[in-house]
Amino acid sequence: MRISFTDDRDQLSGALAVFALKGKMLSQTAEAFDARTGGAVRRAMETSRAKGDKGKSVELLAPANMDADRLLVAGLGDADALTIAGAQAAGGAVAGHYKTSGQDQVTVFADPIEGAAIGAAEFAAHVAYGALLKSYSFDKYFTKKSDSNSRVTLKRMVVVTDDPKAAKKAFESLEKIAEGVFLTRDLVSEPANIIYPESLADACRALASLGVEVDVLGEERMAELGMGALLGVGQGSARESQLVVMEWNGAKSGKKGPVTFVGKGVTFDTGGISIKPAAGMEMMKWDMGGAGAVIGLMKALAGRKAKVHAVGIVGLVENMPSSTAQRPGDVVTSMSGQTIEVINTDAEGRLVLADALHYAQERFKPQFIVDLATLTGAIITSLGNEYAGLFSNDDTLSAQLAKAGEAENEKVWRFPLTDAYDKMINSQIADMKNVGTGGKAGSITAAQFLQRFIRRGTPWAHLDIAGTAWTDSESATVPKGGTGYGVRLLNRLVADHYEGK
Ligand code: BES
Ligand code: MN
Ligand code: ZN
Repeated sequence: MRISFTDDRDQLSGALAVFALKGKMLSQTAEAFDARTGGAVRRAMETSRAKGDKGKSVELLAPANMDADRLLVAGLGDADALTIAGAQAAGGAVAGHYKTSGQDQVTVFADPIEGAAIGAAEFAAHVAYGALLKSYSFDKYFTKKSDSNSRVTLKRMVVVTDDPKAAKKAFESLEKIAEGVFLTRDLVSEPANIIYPESLADACRALASLGVEVDVLGEERMAELGMGALLGVGQGSARESQLVVMEWNGAKSGKKGPVTFVGKGVTFDTGGISIKPAAGMEMMKWDMGGAGAVIGLMKALAGRKAKVHAVGIVGLVENMPSSTAQRPGDVVTSMSGQTIEVINTDAEGRLVLADALHYAQERFKPQFIVDLATLTGAIITSLGNEYAGLFSNDDTLSAQLAKAGEAENEKVWRFPLTDAYDKMINSQIADMKNVGTGGKAGSITAAQFLQRFIRRGTPWAHLDIAGTAWTDSESATVPKGGTGYGVRLLNRLVADHYEGK
């Protein structure tokens, strides 16, 4: 969707949207439209459940004495409780309403909200950002465009604001973040015959045009480095495994080392020889969601020219059963030198991350590492689709992530890591096994496994995003499908704490 800002209030045809506050308080433009239509706006609120509450809206069709075809009145809730996220949700509601409505353009009157902590230009910019995020669709594989009610028609949004220049300026970097989110959503939504390790590496290479340095390691180089854990996962696939390093250096070299993000990129997870049941296996095309988030994050940081030295590393493999696949019981040697008994070939993500995490520390001496992975079904049992699981050796980093998650509505919930859980992955014949004992605390034992590859002194956080990378029910700014979870969260982490001025 293309978005523009204007202070021209005379664009009054087609689809319009105005805002109302809780208690049927109308914005300035809504008030004017109410007068013009002989009280139809108030009456619509009177006769519906949309009384200005957050998330509630009502539409007037062919409003009297107006050129407009349709007028949406969207609720913002209480003015003094209006946040940036609330503005985004309101924009998302407008875009969501008109997305498949048949209309191709909507004009939104983002009047300043009296009594709100958020300024006029900021409000307009975040309404636009929320609308943009919600306007996304992954429809490239439909060949018939016209004859379906569910096909997207909305292509343009005009945001009317008193200070279009300031709003446009505030929107500029938000748009770059959205581009990162969209890249993640695209990559996550693509099927596994299109996105496999080498083609996903190509998607990383494309970031070079933004100034990201991209280095791709194939199986030969990984074998030289001793990455037996990652390579073991990919050895059953006809596709060559890849490890991609993306580096964005937007800061004068500090002495602290880059902020570093590592992603699980299993482009399809059949489970391997420990094969998954057929029902729902198609979902495992998005088992590269961690890698997708890291790639989208790098695009967002480079796109908005963030003043930070950031590294993104993604381990890309396809987990297949075949005559060359690894077997349950195999022992592999990781790049760290530690040996792993592979009890279950379906617990493959941790094997990929083990080598990617070790490599990240060896090569970059990072200031911190955050890894993202669709790692365990157990995290969905624990947290559903509302929070990602957070596992960390560092209270400061954890608190920063929790706060960023609340602000961006990409929430995290911290779980414990302790010696007692760590013991559960001890093996009879190797340094560790890749699953815990008795299937208990599955998300924690997975995180304990990762922690065995983190050096003392490296602040580290692991985000288990198995419940948040994909959604079957749309929300304020996120349509169904790949969510892009992680891009906004980590962009804010960087912006709030690790970016030069
Ligand atoms: N990719 C899966 C986890 C997953 C499940 C992601 C559902 C998204 C939705 C992971 O590789 C896996 O298979 N984990 C196993 C671990 C078990 C074998 C210890 C699981 O969660 O069942
Ligand atoms: Mn698996
Ligand atoms: Zn997996």
